[in-house]
Parts: sequence; structure tokens; C-alpha cells
Amino acid sequence: MCGIIGYIGTRDATPLLIEGLRRLEYRGYDSAGIAYLSEGRLKIQRAVGKLSSLEAVLSRDLSPSHLGIGHTRWATHGKPTEENAHPHRAGAIALIHNGIIENYRVLRDTLVASGRDFSSETDTEVIAHLIDRRYQTGVSFKQAVSETLTQIEGSFALCIICEDEPQQMIAVRRGSPLTIGMGSKEFFVASDVQAFVAQTSEAIFLDDGEMAHFSDNGVCFYDAEGRSQSKQATTLSHDQSFTGKGTFRHFMQKEIHEQSRAIMDTLFGRVSQQAEAVCPDDLIQAAPSLGKVDLARSRRILLVGCGTSWHSALIGKFFFEAIAGIPTEVDIASEFRYRNPPLSKGDLLIATSQSGETADTLAALREAQIKGVQTLAICNVVGSTLSREAGRVLYTRAGPEIAVASTKAFTTQLVAFFLLACFFGQTRKTLPVKLRKQLVRELLAIPHKIDILMAQEQAVATIAKQYFRCRDFLFLGRNLHYPVALEGALKLKEVSYIHAEGYPAGEMKHGPIALIDEHMPVVVIVPRDHVREKVISNIMEVKARDGKIIAVTHGDDAEAAALADAVISTPEVSPYLSPILTVIPLQMLAYHVALLRGSDIDQPRNLAKSVTVE
Ligand code: G6P
Repeated sequence: MCGIIGYIGTRDATPLLIEGLRRLEYRGYDSAGIAYLSEGRLKIQRAVGKLSSLEAVLSRDLSPSHLGIGHTRWATHGKPTEENAHPHRAGAIALIHNGIIENYRVLRDTLVASGRDFSSETDTEVIAHLIDRRYQTGVSFKQAVSETLTQIEGSFALCIICEDEPQQMIAVRRGSPLTIGMGSKEFFVASDVQAFVAQTSEAIFLDDGEMAHFSDNGVCFYDAEGRSQSKQATTLSHDQSFTGKGTFRHFMQKEIHEQSRAIMDTLFGRVSQQAEAVCPDDLIQAAPSLGKVDLARSRRILLVGCGTSWHSALIGKFFFEAIAGIPTEVDIASEFRYRNPPLSKGDLLIATSQSGETADTLAALREAQIKGVQTLAICNVVGSTLSREAGRVLYTRAGPEIAVASTKAFTTQLVAFFLLACFFGQTRKTLPVKLRKQLVRELLAIPHKIDILMAQEQAVATIAKQYFRCRDFLFLGRNLHYPVALEGALKLKEVSYIHAEGYPAGEMKHGPIALIDEHMPVVVIVPRDHVREKVISNIMEVKARDGKIIAVTHGDDAEAAALADAVISTPEVSPYLSPILTVIPLQMLAYHVALLRGSDIDQPRNLAKSVTVE
């Protein structure tokens, strides 16, 4: 949700800024812009739309620079116009912002009353004016920034430069993420390490309230009270680096195909093939200060997440209750924090997030911590705010997920939940040894089964051809497959803009059945478990109203095939693990429908991958 990058060093800044923005574009693509200092003058160039529009403008006029900032926007305050694009400038000051300034109206009114002219509708522009106003009183650039920070409320990551100070840049965060890349005689500032990992693997993660001040003397760090801080750099591993699309047309398709490899990575070192058990030591990384806490003894588990991560948590609930016997509740993170849930010491809150930067999920985590509850993160991005603040983290190791629509993050989260539930079940002795061994064996076979499933892509593409012009889709599932139905509907909405609803199959008769006619495709996940017959009855109900059935089956299922208009079969597996397989054809369906409709698959309209505002 807005990507920011800054550079100060000995190389030409603008190509590095553009490359950084390319890697941050998943965070928003309503507009892009850069500001840089060249020959003592501050130059700003901005363009509406994707980075490519900015590049087209830049190629006409670009002069060398060693200091600059860049921004890719997901609009909050003000439409995606050039005036609203960042960087914003007031006097000698130019800055970029990720976040929301909550008191900007009051500040803006005061600034306007004092004679300041605004050129945008954004909340960000007030910060530039406030800094410039202070700076004009004769205080230093850093002092002007520090004093302004006391006036603004809300969440922000800022990177600021000053026309009079060609050797200085300031980065500061409150709420929104910010990392510093430490190169040789050069520094990067970015929302995400992806932006600079190709240039340097040494990174420093700013904590909340911290400021980094770059000058002739290198970089100095300060806490929220302005006290000098010493910070330790982290060496980024290769698997955090950005890779291209390879032979695939889109990142989404590539990431669908990466799921087998990603799950192997999630499992690596966490299951013992000989003992057919889950290895606790490799499972959870805990901050040293936390000591050994027996999470498995938790009396209740609370799962929170947003979007796709919420869907995986809905399935996680089944695992914890069935395998570990722990009562589990699931909340959408933005609902959890405002409903003031009663929490107690024996609770464990697990916050799930691909990015580890989703504002609502972070807020839910903090709410639980304030109330004294143990917390754990299930997260993909190493070093993200969630993984650091939770204290304990189980990394999903999916590798960089670039497409806005999440795919491999979902299936690896399911594996992470499953491992954790098996570990808790092992420890609590709720998981019989024989079943545990069987489940671990099945888990290890999942990557191979996904490889087999990939061969179905052509068949899914053919189904997409039949249905891509439909206006609505319904997705039905029961039990563990109800969240899969939700996820299938979400994928389709996100990338094809077709209206789609996921529903528990048993609930169809209480409403959605009214929508069914011969134009309505209904995707039904047909299980092999105890609810199979019920699902078959639901299919009959759809057929009786001329709806079109697309069945996702477990193995060859002659009965379902005879009833359906189209069938996609997934390899047979334990019912617990089947969501990991049944969701994949739904991801493929969304992808191929979107491809036929010509939508922007990797960067769907209005969405952003990392939602760092509430
Ligand atoms: C955004 C993305 C979704 C994602 C959700 C939660 O809405 O577009 O794909 O599921 O955020 O993101 P997280 O990083 O917390 O899993």
C-alpha cells in the first residue's frame, strides 16, 4: 500500500530508484513519481498510472543525481491524478509517504489560514508544508523534521530530502514499515527489502518511531524521543530476492506453479521422516528473551488475518480443534480489534499474514499483547513487522510472492497450520501415533501430488473458455472446503472482476439458491468425507434449477462426474490435507478466466498486495 524508496550515495540515483519502484509496484500502481537533486536543484517528475507511464516521461528529461526518492501510490486521500502523486514539495522540502495522516484536515486548515497554498488533495502534502515552515525559521533540516513529527497523528513511513542539503536524507516510521539497505558508501530506504536486495544484502529494520538521518557522516539512528540508537544489520538471504517471471506470462501463474517447491521449503527440517513426527526445534523461531514457552498447552487459540490469510486461518481452526483438541476461534483482524474480545492468560493468538505488514493484523496482534496474551506469527516475509513484534514466528518460506492475488502464500500457510496442529497434538497426546505417522507421510507426499495436479491446467483453461463471459459465479464447499470456496471466489473476483460468492453448501438454500438459473456456474468442491452425500444433494438442488456445475473432486469420482457439466479431479489425500489440493484448480480457474477477459492479472485494479492502512 504505497511503496517508497530513497537513495543516497555515489551512484546515479534515478536508475536505482526506478528499479526499486519496479520491485515495489505490487504495493500500489495508481501513480508513480521521483524527486532528485541535480546540480543543486530539486527536480520532480510524476505520472498517473503504472511505473511505465513515469518511465516514458523520464526518458525525455533526466539528469544525473546522487540523492533521490521515489514513490508508487495506492490512493487513499485524493484521486489518482498527477497533482496527487508523490513526491510532494513545499519550498525546499520534498517527501514521499506511505500511511495515513489522521489529523491532516485540521493541519491543512491551519496552514491554509497562514497563507500556504496546496497543490494536491492528499494528506501527505501537509507534512511537506509543516517541515518547510519550521525549516524557514532557521532550524536545521533534521530539527524541522523532528519538530513536525510531534504534530502529526496517524501512520507513516516517510523519506524526506531538502534542496539545500545535498548530503542529507531523512527516513522515519510510525506504523508503516521501513527498512534501510546498507551498501558501500551508499544507503537505500525502502518499504520492503525487495527494493534494494539486488544492490545490497545488509539491511536494518527501523522499529516503530525510529528515524534514520543520512549525512556526510554516514547514517545515525534515533528513537522516538530523539535519543541516539545503535542498530544491528541483518544479512538478507538469497531466497528473499526478487526473481522474474521466467517462462510464465504472469507472476500469478508462476506462483501457482511454484506451490510444490514452496511447500517442500515449508516442510524442510520441520518433519522427521524417520520418526514420522513434527520437529519442534525447527518449527518456531522465538526471540531469545522469551525463553521456552509451552505454546502447546494453550487453552484456547485465536486466529486472526485478512483476505486470503483469514481464509487459511478458517482451515487452521479445523486442524487445531480436530488434531490438537484446542478450542479455536477465527476473526477477521479488523473486526477483532474493535470488538473488545475477552482474552485470558491461557490464550494463544496466532496472527497470519503473507506480508507481515497488514495494518489490521498488526493492530490485532498489539491488542492481544496489551491484554497479556501469548502471540505467534505465521508469516512469509522474513524480518517483517509482524514477525518481529510477535516474538515467535513460524515462517512459511513461500519465497517472494509478487502477484497481488495470493496463491502460494495460502497453501504454505495451510501447511504451517497443519504442522503446528500436529506438533500441539503430539505434545498434548491428542494425536494417536499411528494417525500422526500417516499424516506426516501424507504431508511429505503433497508436493508430488501438486506436480500431478499441474497437469490439469489445460483442462481448467478449457473450462474457463466456456464460462469466462458469465457475470456471476457461486462457489460451494462444506466443512474444510467452505474456506476453500471463499478463497476460490476471492481469487476470481480479484483478478477477473466477476462477481463471485463463496458459501457453505448447506447454507445455499437460505438465500443464494434464489440466484441460480441456467446462466449461473456453481463451482462445488466434492469431498470424500462424511459430508459427501450432503454435497451431492446440494449439487442436485443446483441442477434442479438449471445451474451449471463445475465439480472439483478427489480422485476419479464417477458419481460427481455424471452430475457435473465439468470436472476437475485432484489427487486423493487425507481429508485434512485436501484443501491444499482443491484450492489449486480454483486458482487456475481464476487465472485463466482473467486471461480470457484481458484483465491486469498481476496488478488488478484498486487492489494492493500489502495493505498498510486500516
Ligand atoms: C491484501 C491482498 C490479499 C491478502 C491480504 C492480506 O488485500 O491483496 O491478497 O490476502 O491483503 O495480506 P497479508 O499480507 O496480511 O496476508
